[in-house]
Amino acid sequence: MPRLREQACPRRYADRMTERPYLVAPLEGLAEADARVRKVNDSDFAELAELMVEAYRGTVDDEGGDLKDALGELRRTAKGHYGEPMRDAWLALLGEDGSIESAIVVTEWRHRPFVAFLFTHPRFKGKGHATALLKTAASVLANAGEKDLSLIVTRSNPARELYESLGFTEREAPALETEPVVATLSVDETGGSGAERV
Ligand SMILES: CC(C)(COP(=O)(O)OP(=O)(O)OC[C@H]1O[C@@H](n2cnc3c(N)ncnc32)[C@H](O)[C@@H]1OP(=O)(O)O)[C@@H](O)C(=O)NCCC(=O)NCCS
Repeated sequence: MPRLREQACPRRYADRMTERPYLVAPLEGLAEADARVRKVNDSDFAELAELMVEAYRGTVDDEGGDLKDALGELRRTAKGHYGEPMRDAWLALLGEDGSIESAIVVTEWRHRPFVAFLFTHPRFKGKGHATALLKTAASVLANAGEKDLSLIVTRSNPARELYESLGFTEREAPALETEPVVATLSVDETGGSGAERV
């Protein structure tokens, strides 16, 4: 039975829109590349997964996931489960020893660049890393012709202050163009076919 599936969307967010409002910032004024930032490769995923677990631990968005969950989440994101991955804006901020201290992952969600993940290792929080990554991602995206950047943040997450200071404002989340539909396709004995909405 063929099924028309709903466009992929970030499962962590889409179901809790009221607790997690949708914010958008224009790229103009935000874009500024930082020399400590480079693109993320697939070979970085194990390091990123560790960083992700450490960064989220004990925060309002901690869902208790372990290393395996984090790695799975990154791989699923890379495969397009949460919108088309915008790999030029998957960025890592490196420390002096070359290790990744903070990272951002951007996908296209509902026709806009969307921050799927942004995290900084607890040892390096409060040093402007996330700000530098958002600005560098904005620069990459602006060069690619994009106009703005979106994200969803839990209301009680202190990161909200960071986003607002960078020009993000709350907006109505764009609706899907079509309602999710499950269609069944039946072929009758005369060879005709009929599609039925359920
Ligand atoms: C949110 C996060 C990415 C910020 O990273 P960062 O590198 O520390 O961010 P910056 O240094 O650029 O900005 C710090 C600002 O973020 C805000 N902020 C974020 N988390 C905060 C916290 N736990 N306590 C206080 N302020 C916080 C503040 O406005 C702070 O500004 P200040 O330093 O002037 O007080 C980091 O705290 C993190 O990894 N959190 C867990 C994952 C997460 O929640 N990601 C965001 C999901 S939408």
